[in-house]
Amino acid sequence: MGYTLLFFFILLQSLNLFAISTTLKPNFYSHACPKAEFIVKEVMKKAMKRETRSIASVMRLQFHDCFVNGCDASLLLDDTPNMLGEKLALSNIDSLRSYEVVDDVKEALEKACPGVVSCADLLIIAARDAVVLSGGPYWEVKLGRLDSLTASQEDSNQIMPSPRSNATYLIDLFSRFNLSVQDLVALSGSHSIGKGRCFSIVFRLYNQSGSGRPDPTIEPSFREKLDKLCPLGGDGNVTGDLDATPELFDNQYFKDLVNGRGFLNSDETLFTNSITREYVKEYSVDQERFFKDFAEGMVKMGDLQLGRPGEIRRDCRVVNSYRPRVEVLFETSNKKG
Ligand code: HEM
Ligand SMILES: *[C@@H]1O[C@H](CO)[C@@H](O)[C@H](O)[C@H]1NC(C)=O
Ligand SMILES: *[C@@H]1O[C@H](CO)[C@@H](O)[C@H](O)[C@H]1NC(C)=O
Ligand SMILES: *[C@@H]1O[C@H](CO)[C@@H](O)[C@H](O)[C@H]1NC(C)=O
Ligand SMILES: *[C@@H]1O[C@H](CO)[C@@H](O)[C@H](O)[C@H]1NC(C)=O
Repeated sequence: MGYTLLFFFILLQSLNLFAISTTLKPNFYSHACPKAEFIVKEVMKKAMKRETRSIASVMRLQFHDCFVNGCDASLLLDDTPNMLGEKLALSNIDSLRSYEVVDDVKEALEKACPGVVSCADLLIIAARDAVVLSGGPYWEVKLGRLDSLTASQEDSNQIMPSPRSNATYLIDLFSRFNLSVQDLVALSGSHSIGKGRCFSIVFRLYNQSGSGRPDPTIEPSFREKLDKLCPLGGDGNVTGDLDATPELFDNQYFKDLVNGRGFLNSDETLFTNSITREYVKEYSVDQERFFKDFAEGMVKMGDLQLGRPGEIRRDCRVVNSYRPRVEVLFETSNKKG
């Protein structure tokens, strides 16, 4: 008897909690949580004061979330005994960071408006704020996303591009998400802030495409600098700046690419390739144009959705229904019933 009742209760609860996401729109939380965007910005400001790089690290999360089954915060789920999540996927392990900043933002949001603002929307707002706080453009974000009920390490492994990627591959990858060549180049401008690991560049310093030689497109004095930072057989976790002004969101990244001073192969290839080169040149001399196209690209990337059922997670790291010891619950109820 108790067993049946409990089963019914859980069934009803799930019906109530799980919804299908609707159309995204600006000011989605203007009634349910009018201070949502203000709260995110304040916590991001504090994080930036503690560690400047952390807001770049949070901004990167939008890309790694949205490309894998849509912007649904699947990226933020911790592994469980039954589910290998995305945090340990090839492009994410020992690389994505500052999840604790996301936790802080979520905690502040839950305090003000419990159960209202999704973790997926949190990432979208936080990415915008990271850019603004670093001196980049502001754009209006569309909101109303739901958080996924699951995550997939395999999907992330399949989709997320390696730092070795060439422009041809990246053009094709982005086109599969309806993102244009312009979107690809503008969005790569996100590498105007933040850092990367030696692990991500040693192949191009010492053995580009298995040649046993360095990537010839690296400007010699820059290569000398990178060789010192990342000696062959050295610590792969040492980090270097992704452009010459890693705390400032500006078009320096594109000037660097023009000068053979791109950090990643996937960066420099955008100048080597004749199709993407036109955009790199344009952005290197026209920061306003870069800002405008970047904002447009972020909104397009933020629109990626699969329309799967979802929920508003209370804790970005776990789904609401997750009960690690649900069998104990059933046993107790059986005895009582
Ligand atoms: C075009 C394909 C892209 C590739 C291949 C790529 C690859 C990478 C790699 C390898 C790193 C350094 C990671 C490490 O060494 O641990 C990195 C860092 C970063 N990426 Fe990308 N990325 C791409 C596009 C994007 C996009 C679209 C965004 C955001 C809109 C983004 C934002 C960032 C940021 C902010 C960092 C620095 C993070 C930090 O300092 O913690 N990237 N990316
Ligand atoms: C680009 O990368 C793809 C996939 O790794 C590879 O098949 C292709 O040959 C590369 N293209 C060029 C021009 O290097
Ligand atoms: C790309 O656009 C097409 C046509 O509008 C649409 O059917 C498809 O679902 C889109 N793909 C993605 C990944 O959004
Ligand atoms: C360079 O890469 C190729 C192909 O991956 C590999 O066979 C070769 O051993 C590497 N050479 C060095 C010096 O690491
Ligand atoms: C970086 O550090 C992590 C954790 O300390 C370690 O497990 C990993 O092997 C290191 N990665 C590289 C490329 O050295």
